[in-house]
Amino acid sequence: MLQNPPTFRWIHKLMEQHNSPIICIRLGRATHVIVVSSSIIACEFLKTQDEIFASRPESLSGYLISDGFRATIMAPLGNQWRMMRRILNQSILSLPIHKWLQPKRDEEADHLLSYINNQIEKQNSVTEGGLINIRIVSQQFCGNVIRNMIFGTRFFREGTVKKAVVAGYFIPKGSHVLISRLGLGRNPDVWKDLMWFDPDPHLCEEGKQVVLTDNELRMLSFSTGKRGCPGVILGSTITTMLLARMIQGFTWEMPYDKSANKLVENYDDLHMAKPFVAIAKTRLPQYLYPKI
Ligand code: HEM
Repeated sequence: MLQNPPTFRWIHKLMEQHNSPIICIRLGRATHVIVVSSSIIACEFLKTQDEIFASRPESLSGYLISDGFRATIMAPLGNQWRMMRRILNQSILSLPIHKWLQPKRDEEADHLLSYINNQIEKQNSVTEGGLINIRIVSQQFCGNVIRNMIFGTRFFREGTVKKAVVAGYFIPKGSHVLISRLGLGRNPDVWKDLMWFDPDPHLCEEGKQVVLTDNELRMLSFSTGKRGCPGVILGSTITTMLLARMIQGFTWEMPYDKSANKLVENYDDLHMAKPFVAIAKTRLPQYLYPKI
């Protein structure tokens, strides 16, 4: 495993070799790491038997990162976690606070418009449009909206509080369960054409409103259950606001150099190897672009 980084690719190769949607890797004498790549089995861990798997392993790295397990994401199931979740749900991420903070999000969206407009002007080409690095724009927007808020890993989950049987497999007490974002999102039993983005499955029938949560875990967006993301509303608002304001404010075209965007992913993580770039042209009267 250590000789063949990155670990997640090594794990997936192992799963392919064993042709299994769930495997157990034993680290040392007593640590069992259970990896899951099927949405049906993931639902059993995160929904049916959530009570057993909703804790976190007590690792030294987790302890150091979270200042002694004080942060919600790393905290094992217990009073500290319960208290932090209550504070988050009632005082930080509640609906009234979310509404109250709307002007702050609008301010950031204005910065976004102003930034792209400035980039176009800087490239001296209001009619031709300007080349925009979508990765930088999105990262800066999201980062600015949630600055001062909590970050954490979105891949690992749980140290079991007792032994269990899931999908017919015995899971020892204390196992670390990894629900694989890659395994779920690219499961050939669920998705027809794995590498082709088809928006239809993400649209609800009624009014066709986009939902970013997936309760059936066919992809791991916000997860679910006790340890599911408490920032669903904020996260969804930030994401849709980013897209909406970019589409409202500008028309977008592929760069003249077609080879600039190669949809190839990094080997070491799931980011694209190179940021996506596109040409933005203003589509509203100039006075509507905030000058910041
Ligand atoms: C699009 C944006 C977001 C996505 C995709 C996302 C995704 C996730 C996922 C998958 C988990 C579960 C991790 C696990 O089961 O181990 C999680 C947990 C968490 N998220 Fe988010 N999240 C987003 C935005 C946010 C925001 C805006 C906040 C707060 C400001 C937030 C705060 C948290 C916290 C505190 C947890 C840990 C919950 C716990 O352990 O009880 N997230 N998130």
